[in-house]
Amino acid sequence: MKKIISLALAIILTLCIAPVVSSAEGEKTLQFDSDGKFKIMIFADVQDFDPLVETTVQLMNECLDKAEPDLVVYLGDISVATGDEKERKTIQAVTKPCVDRDIPFAIVFGNHDGERETSREKLLTYYQEFGCLTTDADPDIFGCGTSNLEIKSSDGKKTAFNLWFFDSNATNPDKEVGGYDYVHEDQVEWYKKTAEELKKANGGDVVPSMLFQHIIMTEVYERLYPKMPLFSFKDYTMNGVAYFPVPFFNRHSGIILEPCSPSFNSVGQWDAIVETGDVIATFFGHDHVNDFRAEYEDIAIINVPTVGDQAYSDAISRGAGLITLDEKDLSTFEYEMMYMFDMVLEEDSKIPEAEDARSKAYYWFVRLFRNMLDGIHNIFLAKENEYH
Ligand SMILES: [Fe+2]
Repeated sequence: MKKIISLALAIILTLCIAPVVSSAEGEKTLQFDSDGKFKIMIFADVQDFDPLVETTVQLMNECLDKAEPDLVVYLGDISVATGDEKERKTIQAVTKPCVDRDIPFAIVFGNHDGERETSREKLLTYYQEFGCLTTDADPDIFGCGTSNLEIKSSDGKKTAFNLWFFDSNATNPDKEVGGYDYVHEDQVEWYKKTAEELKKANGGDVVPSMLFQHIIMTEVYERLYPKMPLFSFKDYTMNGVAYFPVPFFNRHSGIILEPCSPSFNSVGQWDAIVETGDVIATFFGHDHVNDFRAEYEDIAIINVPTVGDQAYSDAISRGAGLITLDEKDLSTFEYEMMYMFDMVLEEDSKIPEAEDARSKAYYWFVRLFRNMLDGIHNIFLAKENEYH
């Protein structure tokens, strides 16, 4: 009899707990707020190890407190620690600013993630341990973490927007070609299949989307750099075509100093997103000092510079990206850079007190220099390519 009562109590207890689990999962649902807005903050290339550089942590904290985003995306090359436990501790430190504020976050992997002792698959379990929303949607396809996250409308009745996360992998497996890797064919096929499923579930209309990926696609540079007919420079040859090392000034705004795209991309990722017609904007990291914006075939292309200072950074572009979506019109979006030189100069900023900080006067000068640079660049900027 006692056994029957215990069993009955166990069943009742299980039934009582089940809605809590379901509710905990429900809290992770991304949704437009009651004003119809959804904000995404991007931290690119933290590329650090525990303990993190002090100004990096403070910059992330202050950007989060100022913008109060609904989601943070870490855009690859995140931890560069060596060994399982050190990687885990670094991941804990990097994600702490989000965890402390209960802000959901997602990641994509960069070429430096998983290049030491710990695999990308194991790193992903560490991120998930701290609440990361990213999954490896299809473990059979190339890389790790290629996936998507849907954002529900403010009334919660439908999927209003979608976010694609691609693993752009590390180095080209074909050693003869060399250079950085790219999104492989099976990943592109997964994207096409999943986009089709989303479209079907949305009554036959594509779900407007954004794409997040660490290494940029070669197609972007094919558009932004003039071709060289006679000779080539190292690092400026893509798909067998040589390019001049200075980009067209009128095809982009912002800074573009590093063209570190793969030297080869034949699998048609760009064509796939154009053909599918769901992606309104693409965001890339990897090139720490680039913060350029451009537009190609009606798709915005944005390179987010590094937020961190451990690897290499430049005071004229270091910071975090901030996207604001409005569900009233999801064919467009707002984007701004929260630059370190502006954040340092905020009245209550604690960044100047950090061990590795520079003086406020230095950042006043940087801001002045940057404004002057943008002013000169704007003279060359073609009207149709302005993206603010
Ligand atoms: Fe990178």
